[in-house]
Order: sequence, then C-alpha cells, then structure tokens
Amino acid sequence: MDLISQTISFVKSSLKNAESGHDWWHIERVWKNARLIAQSENVNLVVVELAALLHDIADSKFHDGDEEIGPETAGKFLRSIGVEAETITHVQQIIRHMSFKASFGERLFSSKEMEVVQDADRLDAIGAIGIARAFTYGGYKNRELYDPGMPPNLDMTREQYKHNAAPTINHFYEKLLLLKDKMNTPAGRKIAASRHQFMLTYLEQFYAEWNGEV
Ligand code: ADP
Ligand code: NI
Repeated sequence: MDLISQTISFVKSSLKNAESGHDWWHIERVWKNARLIAQSENVNLVVVELAALLHDIADSKFHDGDEEIGPETAGKFLRSIGVEAETITHVQQIIRHMSFKASFGERLFSSKEMEVVQDADRLDAIGAIGIARAFTYGGYKNRELYDPGMPPNLDMTREQYKHNAAPTINHFYEKLLLLKDKMNTPAGRKIAASRHQFMLTYLEQFYAEWNGEV
C-alpha cells in the first residue's frame, strides 16, 4: 500500500468515534480541498496530503489542551510507515501551527504547504458545510440558534473565544465571515468568496424567516 492509502486507513480508524465536526468526512473534505488548491500552487504534494489527512488526528480540545499530542501521534505513525524525517518534521510543523487558535498568536511557522492545508481546513468551516458544522457544534453545546439582543463580540481574546457561549449565529460574525480575508492562496480565496456569498444569502433568509417576513 502507498503512503497515502496507509495514512487514510490510520486516520479512519483513529477517528472512528470522533464527533461529526472532526470526523473522517471532515478530513476527507479537507484532503480534497487541499489537492484542489495544490493544483495551482508549487508545493510538495506528499507533505500537503499527509498534513491534510493528519491535521486533526488528536485534537488538543479533547486531550486537556495538550497541543503536542497531534504532532506526536502523527510523527509516530509516519515513522512507522517509513516516511523520511524531513517530511515528518514538516507535517508536524503544519499540524502544530495550523489551528485557528494558533492564529491568535504570532505566526511562528509558515510554508506554502501549510498555507494550502490551512486554506483547505478553513474552506470546510464556511459555506453550506460550514453552516452545518456550526449548528451541529451549537446543538452539541446546547446553544441558542440566535438571540436578537446579543450582539457578536468582534474582538475576543483567545480565552474569551474558548469560553464563548453565545448563540450560533454570533459565530458567523466572530469567525466564519472573517475567514475569506484570511485565505492564503488565490485558489483558496476564490472558493472562499463563493462560499462566503452563500453564507450572506443564508443569513438574509434566516433573519427574514425569524421576523416572519417570508
Ligand atoms: P478547527 O477545526 O478549525 O480547529 P474548531 O474546532 O474551533 O475549528 O471548530 C470546529 C467546527 O465547529 C467549525 O466548523 C467551527 O466553525 C465550529 N465552531 C467552533 N466554535 C463554534 C461556536 N462557538 N459556535 C458554533 N460553531 C462553532
Ligand atoms: Ni480540521
């Protein structure tokens, strides 16, 4: 079996019990997005694909905030299938620095490959899929859909973001609608623009229905 197929098997079995926001299907979508964006970029495709497949392998949220558990798990696996050290280090750097949380701090690592995978992950947080994921998350946390009396908080600290219990509609303004301007690559930006437009249309319809106007 080639490296990618072996990695797919590993990720699928590791994520068997994952919640739907970060299950295998999220990984598969990010992997597809990453390959699509990579077509217009000069990147090492193996690094891009491995990082996309392994980027959520062990979410620190579910491991007492241990930010190293993901890179460690990925590294151990990649060594076990004989991937060369330089590739492993690069994939680990991408996993370590990719999350939205990491983007609160200063940027400590960057590469074209990381930019591609980060764009691919961000695309899965917006558009029709992004909306589905947001309401799934909100439902899981028992959040309200919307509260007209609660304005979004546009400059949250990392700590506030982590403990934010606002209605799910607020998350659109606090994160989802900001993502299109954070895209790294032209191809990613283009896809983000159309998904962004879809979310605006969705919100317009949401408020119209909320107010009994349509
Ligand atoms: P990432 O996978 O980029 O690290 P998160 O783990 O923060 O992102 O979120 C996973 C999914 O849940 C994303 O689609 C994100 O938009 C959604 N989500 C995260 N926080 C909230 C929230 N407070 N309200 C609604 N959806 C959220
Ligand atoms: Ni992800």
